[in-house]
Amino acid sequence: MRKRIFSGAQPTGNLHIGNYIGALRNWAALQHEYDSFFCVVNLHALTATQDPKTRREKTREVARLYLAAGIDPKVSTVFVQSDVPEHTELTWILNCVTRMGELERMTQFKEKARKQRENAGVGLFDYPVLMAADILLYQTELVPVGQDQKQHLELTRDIAMRFNRDYGETFRVPEPFISKVGARILALDNPEKKMSKSDENVNGSIYLTDDADTIRRKFKRAVTDSGTEIRFDETRPAITNLLTIYQLLTGRTREEIEAHFEGKGYAQLKSDLAEATVEFLTPFQERFRGISDEELDRIFAAGRERASEVARATMKDVRERVGIEGARI
Ligand code: TYM
Repeated sequence: MRKRIFSGAQPTGNLHIGNYIGALRNWAALQHEYDSFFCVVNLHALTATQDPKTRREKTREVARLYLAAGIDPKVSTVFVQSDVPEHTELTWILNCVTRMGELERMTQFKEKARKQRENAGVGLFDYPVLMAADILLYQTELVPVGQDQKQHLELTRDIAMRFNRDYGETFRVPEPFISKVGARILALDNPEKKMSKSDENVNGSIYLTDDADTIRRKFKRAVTDSGTEIRFDETRPAITNLLTIYQLLTGRTREEIEAHFEGKGYAQLKSDLAEATVEFLTPFQERFRGISDEELDRIFAAGRERASEVARATMKDVRERVGIEGARI
């Protein structure tokens, strides 16, 4: 049997090139080697304010972006989280083996709740447990994500190990897959932050649906470091970030890129990067627009069936382990 991967993205905000480089690109590359499940995590999106109509539309949009990024629904299972109710059922059971202290240490929660702790939603606090349920439900071996999800993955592993210890071997303990290059793409307007869907300033991100003029304008405005040399250098995060995007969208090596930009200025880098991005996103957006509603419905229906099969089998085992199977007889 092929080893399994699971991953997902929240249908909030707009997916950006950071999501593509840090996650979707790897999913597309790994799907031929692994039995792959790619989920649109619309239950996670409930932790953000969004009206129902937008939530519905974004769920479909994100799935289309998966397909445009090269996820092949004939090879991979593409589905919507809320279509498989086992995700929420397992979340409750895992809540009962997760500790408050563990969730309080989650940096994403701390950042999102900030000083509003008392007013932060319980869903936001519990978000990592739903994520653990997503992963563990499929007996996942590998979880391809960006750097920002590493801590959630560690928690998932701890929850799985604790459950296995308390109730007997039930879950496979997953490993994160975080690529060395591109796992944390930075905001164009502020290289101290990651590029983020929830950022209010749209100029910090290149969205996968941005048109050519917008892409050119955003790169032109991008913050750079002091100095003039164009090379990969960790002490100069803004330029290294632009070069990393260039590297991963063009597939050229670091040496080639440094040679190409030798003696050139930042304006040239920004303009070449904008053109490389437009070149990459033009066919991407054509694929995105080419997926009909009917096709997407068929993909979701097949995905739901396949995901449910696996999820039901895990839940049957989990119910027996914890001693609640009687309620189903
Ligand atoms: P989300 O929706 O925020 O992001 C989707 C994926 O994109 C990665 N990513 C980035 N990679 C590089 N640079 C960036 N600036 C950047 N920003 C985001 C994220 O690491 C992620 O891989 N909690 C998850 C969704 C989720 C999930 C799961 C993931 C729910 N259940 C189970 C894996 C397995 C999230 O909010 O991702």
